[in-house]
Formats: sequence, C-alpha cells, structure tokens
Amino acid sequence: MIKKCIFPVGGYGTRFLPATKALAKEMLPIVNKPLVQYGVEEALSAGLTEVGFITGRGKRAIADHFDISYELEHQISGTGKEQYLDSIRKVMKGCIFSFTRQAEMKGLGHAILTGRTLTGMEPFGVVLADDLCLQEDNTQANVLEQMVKVFNQFRCSIVAVMEVPEDEIHKYGVIKGEELKDGLYKVSDMVEKPSKEEAPSNLAIIGRYILTPDIFSIIEKTPPGKGGEIQLTDALLQQAKDGCVIAYKFKGNRFDCGSVEGFVEATNYVYENLYLKGLA
Ligand code: UTP
Repeated sequence: MIKKCIFPVGGYGTRFLPATKALAKEMLPIVNKPLVQYGVEEALSAGLTEVGFITGRGKRAIADHFDISYELEHQISGTGKEQYLDSIRKVMKGCIFSFTRQAEMKGLGHAILTGRTLTGMEPFGVVLADDLCLQEDNTQANVLEQMVKVFNQFRCSIVAVMEVPEDEIHKYGVIKGEELKDGLYKVSDMVEKPSKEEAPSNLAIIGRYILTPDIFSIIEKTPPGKGGEIQLTDALLQQAKDGCVIAYKFKGNRFDCGSVEGFVEATNYVYENLYLKGLA
C-alpha cells in the first residue's frame, strides 16, 4: 500500500511576484483555502497519509499552516467561527507531516531526490500543488486515488497526463506511448518542454506522479537537462527504458495555478461550483 506523498514546494513562483516575494506560491488561496491544502486533502482521500514537504527558503508558512495555532484556537473556541477550521483540522488529524529542505533549486528531479530521506525505499505519490485537480462531482475518485488503482495493477511508476492544445505543449513534459487500453499508455518516449514540432504527442504530464524508489538512483545519474535543471522527465524516460512507466489519462478537472490565468480560472470555478454551494 502506498502511504507516502511528497510535495516539492521549493520553487520561487516568479510568475506571481511580487505576491510570492515572502509568501510561498503554494500558500496562495483559491477562494478560502491555500493551494497546498487542496493537494494534501487529495492525498489524504487517496490514503496517502504520510505527507512530506520539500521546502526552500521563505516557506515556513506551510509548516505553520499544518500546525496548531494555539492563540487562534483559544480566541475562537466555542464561537460560530470555529467551523472555518473544520477542513484544516480534518487534514491535521488524518496526516503526519515531515519536512526537508532543498538548499538549491536545481529542478524538480533534484527536489524529488532530496525527498528520499522522507520516503525511504517505498513507492510514493508526488503532488505539485500548483496543479489543482478537482473531481467533476463527489462520486468521482480524485486523481491520486485513480492513480493508486493504476499503480496497484502495474506496480511501476505512473504519470498523470492530459491532452493539451498544440500551442501550449511547450510548457509541459510530453509522452509518447503505446495505448494499452482506454486512457492507459506504456511510455516509450518523453520530452521536456518540446516545441510543437518536437512534441511526440499531445499528451502532457501534469503534477501528479506515483514513483517507485528506483527513481532515486536514476536521478542521481541524470545530468542537468532543459533549462540547466535536473529534470524528473529525463529520469522517468530512463526508468521507462529500463522497465516500465505508465501514463494515465485521468478523469476530472485540472487547473494550472502556477500561471495567473489558471489561478483565476480555478478561483472562479471553486467560487461558483463549491463555495456558493457550501461545499468549500
Ligand atoms: P515551476 O516550473 O512551476 O517553477 O516548478 P516555480 O519556481 O514553482 O514557478 P515559476 O515558474 O518561477 O513561476 C514546478 C514545481 O516544481 C517545484 C515547484 O515548487 C513547483 O511545484 N520545484 C521546482 C521544486 O520544488 N524545486 C525546484 O528546484 C524546481
């Protein structure tokens, strides 16, 4: 059973400056809840209760968010305002949190390698909290839950993919794969941020992964790639060549909250579909 989930939250979030000068991008709220809490709630529902953050400088608010604020608890205890803490209390009760620091931002692959101390030699989930994934309704399993099911079937690394338009493909890692059955592909190639001419398909990797622990020794041998960063995509391609990586076309909505446009889209969606209906 997969119990661990890591959250690389070390990025600078330059697209949100100056908001992210002193505040972690992952703490920006979508309506009334920080992005990172949505991600942790998704992990908790999928049964991944051991949550590890790979943080960087200026990210202390994340640790504080998942800790008790005695002053606040004391202040609102027994008042009608207590209900506003329900969701975070549930997450704090259900999960165990640990933290490690990525001293230098050398890329997502490097961030994951830094997380080895938190995961040990078990398969684990990875959530990039700036990708917000929401079910279409509450009968649908969330994206990580769907991926855990796929993992249980294939027992190898799983990446979540979605179809993206040609003019957006350069923002993503893109896969090529043999379709095994509807929405499941055995990966044969992967390119990080390709031009539309180089892109091997329109299937882009989003910020949800399940990784097997052999990825660590592969990342150790992975040289810096696109943008001079150690790319997870490059390590995953090696893993696919050595054994098996499955790409899974997930069901549900995904918002790119690392971009201002996606962030606004997510805010409007959550406000209309969840908040106004009393579901947020
Ligand atoms: P992004 O490419 O979105 O970078 O990283 P960023 O710094 O967060 O944002 P911009 O582009 O400057 O606006 C993708 C994910 O990988 C994590 C980020 O926190 C984000 O979740 N990451 C990236 C790390 O944890 N460490 C790194 O060295 C690089």
